Amino acid sequence: MHIHQTNLSPLSRRAFMVTGGKLSAGLFAGSALSSVKGAVGGAGERTRFALVGTGVRGVAMYGRDVVRGYGDTVELVGICDSNPGRLAYASEYIGAGCPTFVSLEEMLVKTKPQWLMVTTWDWQHHSCIIEGLKHGCNIMCEKPLTIDEQKARLIRDAEKQYGKKIVVTFNYRYAPHRAKLKEMLMDKLIGDITTVDFHWNITHSHLQRYMQRWHGEADKGGTLWVHKATHHFDLINWWLDSDPTEVFAFADLERFGAKGPFRGRNCRNCDHADQCDYYWDITRNTHLKRLYTDNEHHDGYIRDNCVFRREISIFDKHSAVVKYANNAYLNYSLTADTDYEGFWIAFNGTKGRIEGREGGWPSNRDYHEWIVTPRGKTPRVVRVQFEEGGHWGGDRVLMDRLFRNPDAPDPLHQSAGTRDGVMSMLVGVAARKSLAAGIPIQIAGLSDIQPMAVRPRG
Ligand SMILES: NC(=O)c1ccc[n+]([C@@H]2O[C@H](COP(=O)([O-])OP(=O)(O)OC[C@H]3O[C@@H](n4cnc5c(N)ncnc54)[C@H](O)[C@@H]3O)[C@@H](O)[C@H]2O)c1
Repeated sequence: MHIHQTNLSPLSRRAFMVTGGKLSAGLFAGSALSSVKGAVGGAGERTRFALVGTGVRGVAMYGRDVVRGYGDTVELVGICDSNPGRLAYASEYIGAGCPTFVSLEEMLVKTKPQWLMVTTWDWQHHSCIIEGLKHGCNIMCEKPLTIDEQKARLIRDAEKQYGKKIVVTFNYRYAPHRAKLKEMLMDKLIGDITTVDFHWNITHSHLQRYMQRWHGEADKGGTLWVHKATHHFDLINWWLDSDPTEVFAFADLERFGAKGPFRGRNCRNCDHADQCDYYWDITRNTHLKRLYTDNEHHDGYIRDNCVFRREISIFDKHSAVVKYANNAYLNYSLTADTDYEGFWIAFNGTKGRIEGREGGWPSNRDYHEWIVTPRGKTPRVVRVQFEEGGHWGGDRVLMDRLFRNPDAPDPLHQSAGTRDGVMSMLVGVAARKSLAAGIPIQIAGLSDIQPMAVRPRG
């Protein structure tokens, strides 16, 4: 990773080097797994690792990438998916040569993994996590940890009951430019934060993919308030280092589901293909065809449902105000179906302001820029080089932390556990409740966690 500042920057070279060196150490060191006996990377022995959920996410990042990149520290001992056809293709794609199972319980009994990676459907995370804990596994789980407060309680109770560790793989924290922001905020570069403006946009095609599958149904992905925004609320909770206390929200579905002008059974053979802005032939993508369309007959899981099907019960625009325990206010929006993928954000503090924009024209393709304005002074630009790999380079940094450097320190507090998973998810849950009731919703009382002005780790 390279961090530098533009020629416009008044910061001294010495100041930059101190900052850059500290950040590098933070990014490649530390792990939530460090204190766990038998964790990944333990003395000489490979960690027994199993995967449940072989959709696009599971087979790539936690399947093939683990086998190819971390085979010296991790042994993939079992792969599970409830769809036998998808499982067979997944096994071939991942290339581990390990046994495959349609029953999670059978896999856990027969392969005895030390860690179970959960990349199943969002509304199934809690049952897979609890099953894994029951069989003595530590858990890594994709975001969102779960989709509602009842399931969150079950997870928290099981974590206490079985005494094992749960890591939530919040990859968004690990993108180098976001880690740099965390470092500047931790260093109090702009003092204490009073307000944050955070506005995230999703493109037409990105939203389309959500509308076309289970993400489009509220009881499956918790709406985008949870499925997508859990990333964003986690970033804010982490950047502010404080807990959310109260949420007021608006949201609406204006262009999809029953609001659409026509509908078909699914995209690939739709009579309205010529008229529809969202037409997509999934069968042209061999990987998706082999994972999904070839295996629909096993479980009826359709990846290219109509975006105008009446079952859609999520929203395409969202707006919320969130109050934090440290008295910071967040003004947040998630606007989907736009011509821009990314966000812009501003932190206003007692000693200045930091702002930045990610993605979309006219941002630079090589680096990210944070504009830092110390109170009463000229703005300066802090540049962070983009890294290769998924999610702005964050996926690779996270993987290194999980599977290669588990015992190093974690100065930026990037590792996340159930507390973080629950608190980010609860902002979305409270937004849903606020929308339904038309009033602000308190976070306290939605779980066993008491919001704190300065969050404890995990
Ligand atoms: N962090 C990120 O940036 C990121 C990116 C993409 C997806 N994700 C998350 O990863 C997870 C998987 O996403 P995806 O797009 O691969 O979904 P998917 O629907 O393509 O795949 C999920 C797979 O899990 C299987 N499954 C579901 N419940 C199961 C159960 N109880 N037992 C066994 N198998 C089960 C399904 O058959 C399917 O193959 C989701 O939770 C999603 O939110 C995170």
